[in-house]
Formats: sequence, C-alpha cells, structure tokens
Amino acid sequence: MPLQRVQPIFLFGFGGVGRAVLRQLVAARPMHAQRLGLRLEIMGIADSRHILVNPNGLPTDALQRLHDIKVTTGALFDESAPFGMSPHSRAYQQLEGGVDALANPQSPSDFVLPQGTIIVDTTASEAGVPLLLRCRYNGWRAVLANKLPLAGSLDWWYEIATPFNRWETTCGSAMPVISTLNTLLNAGDDVQRIEGSLSGTLAYLASQLEVGVPFGVAVREAKRLGYTEPDPRQDLSGRDAARKALIMARMLGYQLDMDGVSIESLYPSSMESLTADEFLVAVDALDDDMARRAVELSSGGRKLRYAAVIADGRCGVQLIGADATTKLGAVNASDSIVVFTTRHFNSNPLAVSGRGAGQDVTAMGVLGDVMSLAM
Ligand SMILES: NC(=O)c1ccc[n+]([C@@H]2O[C@H](COP(=O)([O-])OP(=O)(O)OC[C@H]3O[C@@H](n4cnc5c(N)ncnc54)[C@H](OP(=O)(O)O)[C@@H]3O)[C@@H](O)[C@H]2O)c1
Repeated sequence: MPLQRVQPIFLFGFGGVGRAVLRQLVAARPMHAQRLGLRLEIMGIADSRHILVNPNGLPTDALQRLHDIKVTTGALFDESAPFGMSPHSRAYQQLEGGVDALANPQSPSDFVLPQGTIIVDTTASEAGVPLLLRCRYNGWRAVLANKLPLAGSLDWWYEIATPFNRWETTCGSAMPVISTLNTLLNAGDDVQRIEGSLSGTLAYLASQLEVGVPFGVAVREAKRLGYTEPDPRQDLSGRDAARKALIMARMLGYQLDMDGVSIESLYPSSMESLTADEFLVAVDALDDDMARRAVELSSGGRKLRYAAVIADGRCGVQLIGADATTKLGAVNASDSIVVFTTRHFNSNPLAVSGRGAGQDVTAMGVLGDVMSLAM
C-alpha cells in the first residue's frame, strides 16, 4: 500500500515506558506502512531536562541514537559530547523555553506542533498539563500513561478526559479496563459497582500477609524483587491505587477529587519523616498489627486483597477480605483485575484481568491508544 498519511507524535517523557514506546513505534513502521499506509512521525521528545524537536520529524537514526544516549547517560543528549550530533544539527534542535514554549508558541519563528499531533504523556509528573490543556485549542490529541493529570483538579479532568484523548494504560497497563468501561457507559449500561485489584506491589504484599509472612519481611522482599518504587512508601501509601480508582470513578460521573477518595495507607503518618532506609528497618514495628488485620480479613477462607471499591457515589482503596468464589477473590495474586457489576452484567459481573504492569506491555497499550486516534 503506498504511504498516504503521516501522523505527528510528540513524546513527552523518555523513561522506561517512553523509550519502550519509541522502540515499538519504530519497529511497527513497516507494518503500519504496509497495512495502513500510515507513518507515525516523532516531531519531538522531552525528558525532565531537555526538549528536542525537528519540524520535519526526527530521523530514525537520530531516534536510535537519542534512545541509546538516554540509556547510557540518563540525559537526552550529552551537551559536552553529543555523539557527533550538535543539538542544532539538522537532526534536532533543543527547544528553549520548555513546555510553555511548546504549548504557546509566541512568534512565527517558534517551533509549532502541527494540527493533529498526538501528545504522548509518559511522565510521572504534572509538567505536561499546560500542553494537555492546549490540545482542544491547538487541534492536538493526547494519550496518557500518566495518571497525575487525570487525578488532578476536576477542571483538568474535564479538559483532558474527552473523547478525543486516550488513557487506557492509566488503570491496569494495557489491560482493556478504560475501553471496557467506555463501552459500557456509551452503550447506556448502568455501572453499579467497580471493584479492582490494580497494584501489583500491594497484591504481592497481601498474598504474603495471607500466608503469614511478617509485613516487614514482605516489604523488604518486594523491594529486593524490584516490585516497589525505590521508596516503598510510595506504593504502601495507597495513593497510586487511589488515582486509578479516582479515574474510573470520575468516568462514572462522580465529582470527586483525591481528598474525596478514602485511602488506607499501610503505614502510619508518623513514619513519613523517616528516610527510605530508616523506614525499611522501622517497618517491622507494623508486623503485629498487620498480621492481626490479615487474620481477621481472611477468616473463613476469604482472600486478602488491596482493592479499589467504587459504588454508590463513593470511592476508596483498602485491604479487604474477598470471598474466594468471587472474581476478585479467585484471581491469581500476581494478576490485576477489575470487576464491573452493571445492569447487564449483574449475577455474573464482567471482569478484565491479566498482567497489569510492566514497561513493555504498557508501551504496547500506549501505542494501541495512539493507533486508535491515528486511524
Ligand atoms: N511502568 C509501568 O508498568 C506503568 C504502567 C502503567 C502506567 N505507567 C505510568 O507511565 C508513566 C511512566 O512510567 P515509567 O516507568 O516510564 O517512569 P520513568 O522511567 O520514571 O520515566 C518518567 C519520564 O518522565 C520524565 N519526566 C519527569 N518529569 C518531567 C518533566 N517535568 N518534564 C518532562 N519529562 C519529565 C522523566 O525524565 P528524566 O528521564 O529526565 O528523569 C522520565 O523520562 C508513569 O506515569 C507511570 O505511572 C507505568
């Protein structure tokens, strides 16, 4: 099929997920050209320090080099020795003025992202919000793996969570949670309850507690296995799980913000002032309370889950004991799951489950979102 159409992309965030998106996008180009007559063209890439752009799209060999430099040095380009490419070479130029210059070009000579550009936010920051808020006015669309803009103010939500944008991977990576919820809502089904286990880290900890492993031992082991953030409190606070719950609750029309989500933190606020290393020692003090809680909740063969529950206008994340015969109770502890109870899926609720994290699988979901907008 002859090449018919170029789809401009701006990659905002170049960490594990962002780089995996780049690798998969470049690898898929021959297939896109052959099957769809489409080329995804990367107009620019940003990390926390640099924004590199090219009005004609970054050439494939430059993309490859930027990827490899980022992996080797942690920076988008090495300013002292940029591997033979000046930042002002024809391959790319550095955009001075950061996100604001990108969101609001001031003069005719400024770099302007073309109409129809898809902004792909794979940061874990709110830095891209000025760009996302300009989408409607500048004719761009957005794909987010990043939950923060969608779990921020309701004003942001109404501007970003539109039918022109996609955020499939914010709740369960590439699992089709958001698209399933959209299908139910758009078809007029009445979604009465959503329950989910959407944190791999907390699911692992719950499974360990359930079989009697002391909490402190389980936390340190989860960190050793690379399941937690460098500071495990980021997972144990429940805030990341709460953001996922809030996104789904807002899709149901609940006018909530993060303050309205009830969140069970798995450590007390008195441990907030500790360093991460101090916390990893002090966490043993929580063993007895957590063991008691686990025994209570898992009595009668129930399964311990750190679950999001969204129903009756309320939204929360907490440890619960799930009946082992339910989909939430029966799911393999290493899998994520979201269960929708609706008018049409009532006595047998609809469940989406599978691998709910991982940079490559998330990048695949991001690319799927990009393609659903590009086609
Ligand atoms: N990993 C998963 O399984 C998974 C699943 C679903 C969703 N997600 C979401 O996907 C996002 C990315 O995850 P990740 O694992 O790729 O994280 P990561 O490796 O930490 O990458 C984050 C990227 O964002 C960039 N960034 C941070 N602040 C920025 C700013 N102010 N301006 C521009 N760029 C900025 C970072 O820049 P530097 O490189 O300069 O630090 C980095 O390139 C997160 O929001 C995460 O919650 C991840």
